[in-house]
Amino acid sequence: MKKIAISTGGGDAPGLNAVIYAVVHACYRKGWEVYGSRNGYAGFLDLEEMIQLRPRDVEGIYAIGGTIIGSTNKGNPFANPVKNLAGETQVIDISDKILRNFKRMNFDCHIAIGGDGSMEIAHQFAEKGMPVIGVPKTIDNDLEETDRTFGFDTAVSTATEALDKLHSTAKSHDRVMVVEVMGRDSGWIALYSGISGGADIILIPEVPFDMDKVCEKITDNDLRGKDYSIVVVAEGAQALNGQRFIKGGLEPGRQEVILGGVGEWVATEIQRRTDKDTRSLVLGHLQRGGSPTTFDRLLALRFGAAAVRLVEQETFDHMVALKNSEMKAVPIADAIRARKKVDLTSDKVQTARDIGICLGD
Ligand code: F6P
Repeated sequence: MKKIAISTGGGDAPGLNAVIYAVVHACYRKGWEVYGSRNGYAGFLDLEEMIQLRPRDVEGIYAIGGTIIGSTNKGNPFANPVKNLAGETQVIDISDKILRNFKRMNFDCHIAIGGDGSMEIAHQFAEKGMPVIGVPKTIDNDLEETDRTFGFDTAVSTATEALDKLHSTAKSHDRVMVVEVMGRDSGWIALYSGISGGADIILIPEVPFDMDKVCEKITDNDLRGKDYSIVVVAEGAQALNGQRFIKGGLEPGRQEVILGGVGEWVATEIQRRTDKDTRSLVLGHLQRGGSPTTFDRLLALRFGAAAVRLVEQETFDHMVALKNSEMKAVPIADAIRARKKVDLTSDKVQTARDIGICLGD
């Protein structure tokens, strides 16, 4: 009999519950026990936060968004912020305590579901001697060594549906609609949803954009009788020519505070330069919510089952990954080496250019 701990870390993504479902069922069939650590690592610090998960506890959850065991954005056990008696925040390392409790609770393995931050922490624990398996999650799809992370497909579907709806209102008022989607470091959501949702312009972090080119495309649209335009901007997109966008900061050279995100700045510039009536919106956390698509569900269930196979083989300090449609094990160290960027030579980028989408360059 083995005893497995499972945790979900970082921003939630549709499919987390499907991974939990698959792990619980695959372990149950082997006669193993599964415990969910609530809110990241809290279960290793407080027994009440470590909850046993049996098949009856996870019934039907594969179709539900979020995570039944909770997640955390700030829970790094190697640099854990705590308030002292004076109310000041101190950063302390509580990893030894967690490792001690992991051993005391007689766990054989920890299955950590998360993005790059959670994988980094999992790898640090593996180096300290905790048997760990990683499962890649992030709607941003920017984790290396896996062709896909679960949550991405759902986020793209949500963004595409929003773009579909924006076409009719933009067209009715001859407006430019600027939609900011998630993607701090990479433009996967912007690129996939922008192509699928008929965007005229897609701005991604991998391609610093030139506002002149953006406005040229909008003016061109007008000249050929298309009086409205749709612009998709990844939240991490940056302008060329020193117009580096700083959230909540000052734009160098122009002493005005930028209150919103990059999408709002792009919309303001378009209106100022082209005189087109322009509106912006931020899709934000809508992209993280809701039920996983069939693709994400299946991927998450496959990841969960594959993670349990890795536990059985004792292939620790590895992450399950999708490579050429197959489940593979990759060293966690390789997955966290860098963020996976959009390949500018890929056929998706080429497709965008071929069908006349402006990437701002
Ligand atoms: O999950 C990653 C992400 O979607 C980023 O694109 C975004 O910047 C971030 O989450 C926002 O998360 P939160 O508001 O939870 O910090």
